[in-house]
Amino acid sequence: MQAMDIEKVNSMDFGEFVDVFGNVIERCPLIAAAVWSQRPFSNLEDLEKHFFDFIDALPQSGREGILRCHPDLAGRELQQGTLSAESRREQSGAGLTSLDADERLRLAELNAQYRARFGFPFVLAARRSHRAAVPRELARRLRCPPAQELRTALAEVRVCPRFIQLQFFTPFAAR
Ligand code: GUN
Repeated sequence: MQAMDIEKVNSMDFGEFVDVFGNVIERCPLIAAAVWSQRPFSNLEDLEKHFFDFIDALPQSGREGILRCHPDLAGRELQQGTLSAESRREQSGAGLTSLDADERLRLAELNAQYRARFGFPFVLAARRSHRAAVPRELARRLRCPPAQELRTALAEVRVCPRFIQLQFFTPFAAR
């Protein structure tokens, strides 16, 4: 990453920072709002670390809350067109925007079972997945113990940090 980029980040006022980074963690702009106070950042990795340190410091209810802010994969919000741009891009990248009726139904059933068991929606690094793998992975994770599944789901949030989607950080995207 070029030094100039992080200088630009460090000079952002609060509103600008939350505009750019507010949805790095899906629908959790509070995290960007809190991280802004910790400026200056030495580089992008440092900025990313502040996001994840904030999440790690939360009580379990807070970490579960982050997962609950995620929309279902191929769920109602996708049908209604109310997804965030980032979520839409990830779901579309995994082919979840072009499921046929049977695939959608199967995923809806699995999503409902998952929510009923764990109390939060199924989250995975959709950008790295594809439409056939998603229900398979969902069915597999449904059988995991809850404490393990909470760790897995949060690890998926980390695997797919949205910083690299921001054009702002083109050099980082090439990693
Ligand atoms: N994985 C990547 N993006 C998303 C999302 O928006 N929702 C869920 N459930 N998982 C995701």
